[in-house]
Amino acid sequence: MSDSNRVIIFDTTLRDGEQSPGASMTRDEKLRIARQLEKMRVDVIEAGFAIASQGDFEAVKAIADTVRNSTICSLSRALDKDIDRAGEALRNANSGRIHTFIATSPIHMKYKLQMQPDQVVEQAVKAVTRARNLMDDVEFSLEDASRSEFDFMCRIIEQVIDAGARTINIPDTVGYAVPQEFAATIARLIQNIPNADKAIFSVHCHNDLGLAVANSLAAVSAGARQVECTVNGLGERAGNASLEEIVMAIRTRHDTLGVTTNIDSTQIVPASKLVSSVTGFPVQPNKAIVGANAFAHESGIHQDGMLKHRETYEIMTAESVGWHTNRMVMGKHSGRNAFRARLEELGTSVASEAELNDAFARFKDLADKKHEIFDEDLMALVSDTRATAGNETYRLSSLRVTSQTGEVPESSVTLMVNGQEQSAQAVGSGPVDATFKAIESMVQSGSSLELYSVNAITSGTDSQGEVTVRLELGGRIVNGLGADTDIIIASAKAYVHALNLLEANVQKAHPQV
Ligand code: KIV
Ligand code: ZN
Repeated sequence: MSDSNRVIIFDTTLRDGEQSPGASMTRDEKLRIARQLEKMRVDVIEAGFAIASQGDFEAVKAIADTVRNSTICSLSRALDKDIDRAGEALRNANSGRIHTFIATSPIHMKYKLQMQPDQVVEQAVKAVTRARNLMDDVEFSLEDASRSEFDFMCRIIEQVIDAGARTINIPDTVGYAVPQEFAATIARLIQNIPNADKAIFSVHCHNDLGLAVANSLAAVSAGARQVECTVNGLGERAGNASLEEIVMAIRTRHDTLGVTTNIDSTQIVPASKLVSSVTGFPVQPNKAIVGANAFAHESGIHQDGMLKHRETYEIMTAESVGWHTNRMVMGKHSGRNAFRARLEELGTSVASEAELNDAFARFKDLADKKHEIFDEDLMALVSDTRATAGNETYRLSSLRVTSQTGEVPESSVTLMVNGQEQSAQAVGSGPVDATFKAIESMVQSGSSLELYSVNAITSGTDSQGEVTVRLELGGRIVNGLGADTDIIIASAKAYVHALNLLEANVQKAHPQV
């Protein structure tokens, strides 16, 4: 098959995905996800928006310095300072790309940019020219393209290609497009722009109407050869097109789509689990490809068919997307080296000996409580170690709850607050409520609880519970994580983690602003 039939997979989990409220990631978390994306053979990793914050700059730089087999990209508005910052972050990349954008729809140009169309064209050309002076690989996006005028798009695209843009991205920024219309626009652009053959056409679809994957695939049928997507469909508002759905649709329906990707699909489920555990966004059980029930056949008729001939009800295998592979069970007799090796195989190696020692100590504690330890437990152990490591202001020392039928639940909590021990008691409608009230009475953060969720990491009553606590304070949203076989302790850890994140006060700029 010729290369012209290969679709470039551009992953923006670390940039657009991170724009989901509460999905902020640290530099190390981003680096871990980037390594997994590289292992999955993603072509382009959009590592962040270098000008947004010092943290984002450092994350893009760390990924550009480390990842060798994928192109590393930074977003930048069509502004000199953004482009220079992106270039600086990408300086050591083996293969780097600057992705610059400006809005092209009448509504965005008039109200947001307050610019005339001619000025927008001029700024776009200037931005691409500046980016090309820093890097060969430059992508240009027309923000809100699906609500932009066709002739204006042709004009700006022709000029930015002349200025050196190699990839032209057509975003459906507000998730407004429908497949036939979007495909027709892509086909017409490619047909009408005289120098269209000098660039690869890309699409970037949001999921506000639940059509992001359908729109992206329709665009591929019309000639787009790059799809921008995210693991688990994470992203601004209703999210972006989901990487796993795009890749597996292309693979499973090669007969009709006639294109391929370079992705190692067996790395999809590990990537999904990693992104879910880092962001605290659980994957719904019926989510295509990566949901826990995506390959579960419940009805008798289906099970009977499957037993007689798998393909009666199965269009792809669970193994092909990474379910059930390498599911090594560890126990209390497993040693430190086996533990380290398994973490490395899971793509989640620890950053330092101290982190390894801490995670290994937690592993031994867990092995005393739980007979068999699965990969999911190991991933939770490491994220729990990370959640509690570093210069945290608050640390959970001890917790005691009483919960009895007919009695009001009560919780006594001891925290280390900046190295000083403090204790408090509270009652609540349940033991978790009482524990959160006891913690808040000491910390007095004034934050509001936006989300509380508990997931059993594996099956069985001895499973660890992984808790996500989302707090909001003054418009800032953070997600705290905690894991333990005791869900009240896991809840307290998650709450304390979220308070530490609020305390760290990481501020980010938003690309669309
Ligand atoms: O949705 C969008 O338009 C974007 C651009 C910055 C590519 O994320
Ligand atoms: Zn977007």
